[in-house]
Amino acid sequence: MTPPTSADHAARFAAAREDRSRAVLDGFHALKHALRFGAEVEVAVTSDPAGLAALAQELAPDLRARLDALAVAVPREELRRIAPRLPHTEVVAVTRRPAFDPAAALTAQPQRPLVLLEDPRHLGNVGAVVRVAAAADAAGVLVTGPRDPWDPAALRGAAGLHYALPVGSLGERTEAALDLLGASVPRRPLVALDPAGEPLGDMRLPAGAVLAFGTERHGLSDTLLARADRRLALPMRAGVSSLNLATAVAAVLYGAGAG
Ligand SMILES: C[S@@+](CC[C@H](N)C(=O)[O-])C[C@H]1O[C@@H](n2cnc3c(N)ncnc32)[C@H](O)[C@@H]1O
Repeated sequence: MTPPTSADHAARFAAAREDRSRAVLDGFHALKHALRFGAEVEVAVTSDPAGLAALAQELAPDLRARLDALAVAVPREELRRIAPRLPHTEVVAVTRRPAFDPAAALTAQPQRPLVLLEDPRHLGNVGAVVRVAAAADAAGVLVTGPRDPWDPAALRGAAGLHYALPVGSLGERTEAALDLLGASVPRRPLVALDPAGEPLGDMRLPAGAVLAFGTERHGLSDTLLARADRRLALPMRAGVSSLNLATAVAAVLYGAGAG
């Protein structure tokens, strides 16, 4: 078989960035986590094979042999064409996304909290939420709105931890997402996190709750608030209007008995 050329690699990565059945992982940590949590890697390229081997030896000896076998060495100029935002660890990969089934995601791990982001705008926030949700062993991260939670920018923010738990979109509309949630058995309690809610204090969250967080600028919609079983706030010093979205998710998952 003819080995892939520089143009083949560049075209393959460019196509994968637009393909919702694939994911593009930038950097060692994203590839490490993806492999640990079962990602199927289609291609991995590095312009620093010795550096990759040393990182694997130091930070992921469990993956050293797999990374050695997987990563194809290419010149740095070629990697720059493949990944214009060259990660400092000089490795990028294309993986297959796992199939996402909303009904299965809503019922998996029924005792663990499930994070719902209503129409998040910043993909860096989405990534940070996936990362903390994976660390806290949440049941999943679901989003509404037009953003793709598997966008390469979100994967960068999550350090590849999308493979550790179900991550997917329930579609553009909040009503449709809430209908899916209401129809799932057992039905999870819906807790709205909202700066204007009742103070969370020492309260424990109900087991298996869907924890809903709002969009960065406007917060949760009236539609979601009207359907919530509870509306809770992380107390803040007077004068502070709100926490950053991902910070709020982390505080709730770890601080209120959900973690
Ligand atoms: C940047 S905030 C949105 C700010 C928006 N102006 C508001 O009043 O909700 C994004 C999301 O983080 C969560 N959040 C931020 N601070 C919070 C707090 N103190 N208590 C509960 N949730 C909070 C909420 O879900 C909020 O919708």
